[in-house]
Order: sequence, then structure tokens, then C-alpha cells
Amino acid sequence: MTNLGIIGLKHYLCKVKTLGMNIDQEYIERENRYGAHNYHPLPVVLSRGEGVFVWDVNNKRYYDFLSAYSAVNQGHCNIKILDALNLQASKLTLTSRAFHNDVLGDYEEFITNLFGYDKILPMNTGVEGGETANKLARKWGYMKKGIKEDKARIIFAHGNFWGRTLAAISSSDDPLSYKGFGPYMPGYSLIPYNDLDALEHELKDPNVAAFMVEPIQGEAGVVVPDDGYLAGVRSLCTKYNVLYIADEVQTGIARTGKMLASDYEDARPDILILGKALSGGVLPISAVLADDEIMLCIQPGEHGSTFGGNPLACKVAKAALEVVIDEGLSDNAFVLGDLFRQELNDRLSSSKIVKLIRGKGLLNAIVINDTEDSSTAWDICLALRDNGLLAKPTHGNIIRFAPPLVITKEQLMDCIDIIVSTLTDFD
Ligand SMILES: Cc1ncc(COP(=O)(O)O)c(C=O)c1O
Repeated sequence: MTNLGIIGLKHYLCKVKTLGMNIDQEYIERENRYGAHNYHPLPVVLSRGEGVFVWDVNNKRYYDFLSAYSAVNQGHCNIKILDALNLQASKLTLTSRAFHNDVLGDYEEFITNLFGYDKILPMNTGVEGGETANKLARKWGYMKKGIKEDKARIIFAHGNFWGRTLAAISSSDDPLSYKGFGPYMPGYSLIPYNDLDALEHELKDPNVAAFMVEPIQGEAGVVVPDDGYLAGVRSLCTKYNVLYIADEVQTGIARTGKMLASDYEDARPDILILGKALSGGVLPISAVLADDEIMLCIQPGEHGSTFGGNPLACKVAKAALEVVIDEGLSDNAFVLGDLFRQELNDRLSSSKIVKLIRGKGLLNAIVINDTEDSSTAWDICLALRDNGLLAKPTHGNIIRFAPPLVITKEQLMDCIDIIVSTLTDFD
């Protein structure tokens, strides 16, 4: 284990021991004993969820302000999604793509019409979506753009996060992600986020196949680019015949107040990656959408996944998207997101501990007035937990707030009270 890992674990066990708590030590100790130490969870042991709430093993109720990193946009155990799951689970779960099934085509037609693309390539996790997009872009680069074999480049932005595979960490500038796992994938370069001049400079190289970017950087701490950035990316990519890949795994499916964060601007991506809330948190389901000119560059045998596009996933994803549409979750996120930022800004305007509140829709974060290596954000999250709200730091001084999008105004106001009083105590 790295020094950081050991320090993290010690810090965590110490907190578990000292902070008093209504949690069941046995569960935590068993995880620590038998599970790899690749996570650093907040000490709370959850056993049940419904809508915006989760309950721990002691039956204490919490508002979930993480939503499994925006996978549970439709609320925990959404009944319409569970009905779809249960119905299909007793009929047919998996055929592999060796055979056709009677569900896949219906889902493919539905999702491509919804997002306005010719085709979908179904996968499972978000990072597989990213891998798929990268493979598609390289193939398109060789077949359509005329890039010489093995010369294709893909550009990313500093602070990007798209998962934990070797390709994903090869584009990362976070040492915690990449250090000790080399050698890395060639053909990747980084430029500053939110910097169109730097992008244009790179795109002039004819070997560049794609620019892959999050419309808002979630894991980096909900970093929102300037208005016009995405439209600028779109037009530069068009100008230099480079594919614009939008990683909407975290920002997509209504999280930021529109179905896609890309919808805020005239910025239709060439390749769109979705995951997380595509299943409402029920199954790992991801999707890559693109038009024929790009998607048909991949031919039978060149890419795939045993579980990708399985009948169970197709039914669940369709139901999850229908819930978002039928329940108006984009509008709810838009309206309540504005309210959330406004209330926090008003009520915390004289706070010494809060440096900044930022976000879009119901993807928000507060930046704490402390250094990145401090434990302040962690301590605040422990206090929030004690006060009935679960959130998690992303970096030592940033706390992300992303409740399920089914949250009501009354519930949100209740949560704002909890957040304000907890932060005021820290002041
Ligand atoms: C923007 C973005 N892309 C990709 C991923 C990877 O998704 P997964 O963990 O399902 O592989 C994440 C996960 O947090 C993400 O935030």
C-alpha cells in the first residue's frame, strides 16, 4: 500500500473509532478485513433506500446528497424501474450478442430517437463507454480522416476523470489515479480545461482524431466552464475535422437541469457517452451514441461486451429514461438547482469557511476555505452525516452536493437548513 493509502486508512479508522457514532462497526471491520482498500468510505453502513432517502443499519434516515455519484437521479428503488427489472428478470436476462433478442432493437430505437443519433453501442460501465468512444475515434481517424496507422491522438482536459482502466488513467493528471500503474497509453495529450486557444493549437495537428471532455468536470469538483465553451469546442472540432466526444456519464440524464449538459449550448457532440443514471442506479449500463459515419467504422468482432445490450439492461434503461421524461426531472433539477445555489449564497454570504458555491442544476459543490490536503471537508461531511445528510468530499476541500432529482422543494429547503447550520457550526 502507498503511504497515502496507509495514512488514509489510519485516518479513517481513527475517525471511525473516535467520532462516536451510531454505526455498526462490525460491517466496517469486515469490509476492511476482506475487501481491497481501494476506497475510503464515509463511516455509515446503509441498508435501505427509497426516493431521496437512505437508512443505515440502525434505521437512522439520511438525505442522500451523493446519489451514488449521480447514478440514482430517479431516486432510490424507483418503482417503475424496479417493475421493468422484475418483469424482464423472470423472462430473459442475458443472451450475449451471439444471438438477437426481442428487447434490444426496441431500446436502441428509443434511445437513438431520444438523443438524436443514428446508432447506439451499448456497454455496461461508464469507463467502458469512454473506452468505446476512444476506439471509435481512433478507427474513424484511420478510416475517414486518413491518419497514418498508430499515429492517432486524442486530446483531453486537465482535471478529467473517466474511470479507472489503464486507458482512463493514462489521460489523468491526478497522481493518485495514475502513479504506479505505468506504462501508459500513447497518443493522449492534455490541455487546460475551459481554454479554447489551447484546444485550437492542438487541433491543428492533422493526427488529432478527437477531443474528449466533460461538459462540467464532476470529479474535479464540479468545475463549470464559461458560457460558450462547449459551443466553441463544437465549432473548433468541426473546423479541424476532429471528433468532439462529450463524456456525459455524470452530467447527463437531467442532472444539470437539461437532459444533457451539452443541451445548454449549440454543441451537439459527435460521440456521446452516457452511464450511471441511464439505469437509475439499478444495473451498470452505459451507452455510446454516434451517427453512422462514425459508428459503422467498427465492424463485427472488433468490439463488444458479454453483458452490453442484455435484455434486462435494455428494459431497465428504457424505464429509467421514461421516468426522467415522465416525471419532468430535468425541469425539477433546473428550478431547484437555482434555488439551492441562491439560498446557500444568501445564507452563507458571511461564512468564513465557504469560499465558493458553484454548479448547474442539481450538480453543485462548495469549495471550503482550506487547503486541498486538509481534513476539513471530511470533517464537515461527518457532521452532515450526524445531522442526517450524506455527502462526500471530492478532493480535500470540495464537497459535492447531488441529491436524487426527485427531491421536492420542501425536502430541499430542509436539506439547506441542515447544510447551513452544519457549516455555521464550523465557522
Ligand atoms: C465523467 C465520468 N466519466 C466516466 C466515469 C466512469 O464511470 P464508471 O465508474 O461507471 O466506470 C465517471 C465516474 O465517476 C465519471 O464521472
